[in-house]
Amino acid sequence: MTAEIISGTEIRKEILAELEVEVKEIKEKYGKPPGLVTILVGSSPASISYVTLKVKTAISLGFHEIQDDQPEDISEADLLALIEKYNNDDDIHGILVQLPLPKHIDDKKILNAINPDKDVDAFHPVNVGRLMIGGEEAIFAPCTPAGIQEMIVRSGTETSGAEVVVVGRSNIVGKPIAIMMAQKGVGANSTVTIVHTRTKDLAAHCKRADILIVAAGVPNLVKPEWIKPGSTVIDVGVNRVGMNEKTGKAILRGDVDYDEACKIAGKITPVPGGVGPMTITMLMKNTVKSARMHLSK
Ligand code: GUN
Repeated sequence: MTAEIISGTEIRKEILAELEVEVKEIKEKYGKPPGLVTILVGSSPASISYVTLKVKTAISLGFHEIQDDQPEDISEADLLALIEKYNNDDDIHGILVQLPLPKHIDDKKILNAINPDKDVDAFHPVNVGRLMIGGEEAIFAPCTPAGIQEMIVRSGTETSGAEVVVVGRSNIVGKPIAIMMAQKGVGANSTVTIVHTRTKDLAAHCKRADILIVAAGVPNLVKPEWIKPGSTVIDVGVNRVGMNEKTGKAILRGDVDYDEACKIAGKITPVPGGVGPMTITMLMKNTVKSARMHLSK
C-alpha cells in the first residue's frame, strides 16, 4: 500500500481561496475588512520569519494589517498598554503577540490581557475554557489543532467513532486536539487516548489508532510497526536534523518514520508541507470569523 498524501500546501490554497471570497463579502457588507495586528517584540530571526509570513498572508487576503514591531527592551507596562490600545480599536478584530517574549516580560500576563474575543491564537484561558465546553461557545480553536482537524476532515477521514491516539500533551497541540476530536460535531465524535512520555506501552496504543496524531517533537519516534494498516497519520513534528550544504537550509523531519509509514498508512501528512502551512491559514480563518462576529454586533 502507498499512502495518500494529505498536503497542507494544497489545503491551504483551498482555504485561502474560500477566505478571499469571505473577505470580499465582509468588505461589501460592513464597509471594512478584517483587521489583524501582529506584535513582535525583539528581533529573533525565527519570530521575524513567522511574523513576516503572517503579515504577508493577511495582506494577500485584503485584511487591514498592522505590523507593530517593538524593541527587545520594551517594558511589560508599555506592552500591556499597547494591547489595551488594540483591545479598544474597532478596526482590529485579531491581536497576535508573537511568542516567545523576552525574559523580563511575563508572557501569561500579556496573553491574559488580550480581549478573549480578539484572541485569534486562542491562548487566553477564557478561550481554553470555551474550547472545553465546545459547540457555539468555542469561537476560536488554537491554530495548529484547528489545522489538523481541517486536514482530517478534508482528506475524507471518518472521525465518528474512530479511535484517535494523540502522542504528546502540550497546551498548544496535544491537549486541545484531544478535546476537539472528542467533542460532539463534524470532524469529531472520536474516542480519544492521549499518550505521553510516561505511557507504559506507546506502541500498543498507537497500533489501535484509526487516526494517529503525533506531536512529540522527537524525530522518527513512531516506528512503522506502530501504525495500523490503512489508518490516517498526522505528523505535527518539525525537527531540524541537519543542514543541506548546497541550499544552506535546515533538513526537516517529522516525528514519524515517513518513508516506511507511507507503505502502511492509508493517508499521511508529509514534513515539510503537511501541518506546518495550516497554522497560519487557521489564524487567518479565526480573524475572518472574529471580524464577522465584531462587525455584526
Ligand atoms: N510562536 C510560535 N508559534 C506561535 C503561534 O502559533 N502563535 C504565537 N503567538 N506565537 C508563536
